[in-house]
Amino acid sequence: MKNLIITGGAGFIGSHVVRRFVTHYPHYKIHNVDKLTYAGNLLNLTDIESYPNYYFHKIDICDTEAIRKLVYEFEIDAIIHLAAESHVDRSILGPRAFIETNIIGTFSLLEVVREAWKDKKNVRFYHVSTDEVYGSLGETGMFVETTPYDPRSPYSASKAASDHLVRAYGHTYNIPYVISNCSNNYGSHQFPEKLIPLCIQNILKNKPLPIYGKGENIRDWLWVNDHAHAIDIIFHQAENGQTYNIGAHNEQRNIEVVKMLCDEVDRQRNIPVGTSQNLITFVKDRPGHDARYAIDATKLQKDLGWKPSVTFEQGLSHTVKWYLENQSWVEQVTSGEYQKYYEIQYGDR
Ligand code: NAD
Ligand code: DAU
Repeated sequence: MKNLIITGGAGFIGSHVVRRFVTHYPHYKIHNVDKLTYAGNLLNLTDIESYPNYYFHKIDICDTEAIRKLVYEFEIDAIIHLAAESHVDRSILGPRAFIETNIIGTFSLLEVVREAWKDKKNVRFYHVSTDEVYGSLGETGMFVETTPYDPRSPYSASKAASDHLVRAYGHTYNIPYVISNCSNNYGSHQFPEKLIPLCIQNILKNKPLPIYGKGENIRDWLWVNDHAHAIDIIFHQAENGQTYNIGAHNEQRNIEVVKMLCDEVDRQRNIPVGTSQNLITFVKDRPGHDARYAIDATKLQKDLGWKPSVTFEQGLSHTVKWYLENQSWVEQVTSGEYQKYYEIQYGDR
């Protein structure tokens, strides 16, 4: 498999995956297919855009004809599918785009490969999914690959639907596929609507850090570069039809994450540690807020030998450093449509 489409390659995780594949596999041709929504930006890829094995196509994955043309013209033999609407709060405010991109978009891609890959063996459809399809955990237990699906937000329901479609096409039409379900990512180039980059930006602007509810919800955090590495390993080594959970065994309460972040920003800005914690503000909870996620990634570690490369402290430190050094990136990616959403979501806060 050497002619790859990576969908959503201009987004947060996608840009890390594109960079990894373009630089590690010079003999592959990497076609980044992205609609460039508010969350996608080619600024994320300026360092690799002139590589001879990298191609960009501004295409909506729901545009079946455009995808078909690409798949035939470039003899695409693998798709790593990351394009999605990804922010849970936005899915609560307006679910339609999530249904369109995450469900119809995935369906469109599958329809194209159903026809184009009919007589082909050495092909692969890799769906990058989320642990949120499994629902919410109580005090104990972890998500394993066989945990029943129980999505609880429009976002997670749309991702669950797309996982089901991929498996259904694999089963019915023999399309070779793999799926991975990953926990919360953090790192460079994450759009500053998600908890960690939003809080870094608010600290820098001396604005309140909005913590939903009591801040006791638990997420399981993974450094995005480690996710990209896991995707690489799964893409190359997993057997067809397999599912892998990806996570770093790193459960944290939101309030603890934000406190650690405050202290790390203070340290890197050389101001007294503890200063930024004064900005922590408890606000109205997210409707239907899932209590706890925890990923058991034993299968990935045992079968394919993947393990995370950094601790949470190290990953947070890299992340804070990147945001402090890349404020012009933040300015540019938030200058457009994001402002409207920010007003609706946060008002004057
Ligand atoms: P993101 O929002 O940063 O990026 C999504 C990308 O998809 C953007 O570049 C956007 O322009 C593109 N896109 C959106 N709609 C499109 C369409 N109709 N056609 C073509 N391109 C379109 O998302 P992310 O956080 O990088 O997540 C990437 C994938 O990983 C998603 O499928 C998400 O569900 C999954 N995931 C994310 C996390 C996380 O913590 N961020 C964790 C697990 C899984
Ligand atoms: O678990 C994987 C998922 O992680 C991915 O599938 C999603 O694409 C990704 O967005 C992420 O979803 P979350 O909802 O967990 O991420 P978010 O950064 O929005 O929120 C993390 C936690 O912090 C969550 O419990 C809600 C809380 N939160 C979030 C924001 C934006 C706050 O308390 N305040 C905030 O302002």
